[in-house]
Amino acid sequence: MTKRYEKIDKSFFDEVHDRTGTGAIKYDVTPGGVSYPDMLPLWVADMDFKAPPAVTDALVSCARHGIFGYTDLGEEYGRAVTDWFYRRMGLRADPSWIVKAPGVVFSMCMAIRALCAPGDAVLICQPVYHPFAKIIPANGRRLAVTELVMKNGRYEIDFGDFEDKIKRNNVKLFLLCSPHNPVSRVWTRAELEKMAEICRRHGVLVVSDEIHSDFVYEGHTHIPFASLSSEVSDMTVTCTAPSKTFNLAGLQAANMLIENKTLRERVRRECLSAGYGGHNVAAACASLAAYKHGEQWLEVLLSYLSDNVGLLSEALDATNGKVTLIRPEGTYLMWLDCRALSMTDEELDAFFLKSAGLYLNSGYIFGRGGSGFMRMNIACPKETLDAALGRLSRAVSKL
Ligand SMILES: Cc1ncc(COP(=O)(O)O)c(C=O)c1O
Repeated sequence: MTKRYEKIDKSFFDEVHDRTGTGAIKYDVTPGGVSYPDMLPLWVADMDFKAPPAVTDALVSCARHGIFGYTDLGEEYGRAVTDWFYRRMGLRADPSWIVKAPGVVFSMCMAIRALCAPGDAVLICQPVYHPFAKIIPANGRRLAVTELVMKNGRYEIDFGDFEDKIKRNNVKLFLLCSPHNPVSRVWTRAELEKMAEICRRHGVLVVSDEIHSDFVYEGHTHIPFASLSSEVSDMTVTCTAPSKTFNLAGLQAANMLIENKTLRERVRRECLSAGYGGHNVAAACASLAAYKHGEQWLEVLLSYLSDNVGLLSEALDATNGKVTLIRPEGTYLMWLDCRALSMTDEELDAFFLKSAGLYLNSGYIFGRGGSGFMRMNIACPKETLDAALGRLSRAVSKL
């Protein structure tokens, strides 16, 4: 019998949990190995919230069973994943399209190795989640970069440069980040169609990292790249995971969705040749429970995050333009424009760490165009965010 879960309300997300000493990277790893007393960590992309109760129940029941053998939850798992993407964002995928992986970065590495040859060029749009720029040369491919441009406070793709970079470097693969971390853009249909049209014209395959697809703010809609048309689906590897959505990053489960059978089998073979056979039992049970029972939890979380955006926005408005918020369309990672502080990147790091007592991600790690910005994770209880914003306001007013 399926258990019915009580409705979550916002008070669930108000609870402050002590994560120190648990091995949580966010809390137990310090910037550059240096400990700063009383530092608030708002960096790496996991949330300070408990996962949906159904996930914890599934893990407890898995642990109680006490046998942790090789596991495949089969059709039920595949359906839970594909139903989620259909119901929430209109992507019609078949469970047979799924290629499992331990993470999205791993998925992208496998897709790079399977779908282009050593020495081929792979395009990314910077600033972008920093592993994008690392995994391309790490897998023996050439990095090609087009820089996003800011127009009226909003980032856009310079399509002229995008196509030029593809032509000049003979690009074979494009790594799309959608929604885009860290500039928190949710690409519009027109933008995605333009990317698809250029890529198709030049025979460029697309690996679309949609790990943040569930985090979209009012007025914006995430459109899965592969849902644009059957032709686009045929040239796309969609990288998904329950890890950001339900805060399960430490469990390591991801699912690629690949309609094109030839591409799918190439990627699947690459995973097998890396020695990867499928999700571990805890990851499988937790992911299934999350996709089946986590939706109401997510709806309340989205509303909570949207309130947090409001608090951040108010606090930054009060800095009189010294630190401005790039209006977020998606993700819980906020992109703060600190250029008006006129600091070098080193000074900016020191300002946040030492004067404000906040550990954020420095913008420059995300590549071209990241200098002068900081990335702030607001997926924390209001009490934590209030404390962080108080520290930031006081530090700015002392400048
Ligand atoms: C855009 C993006 N892709 C991938 C990841 C990491 O995914 P995984 O831990 O599944 O490799 C992150 C984590 O922050 C991310 O922001």
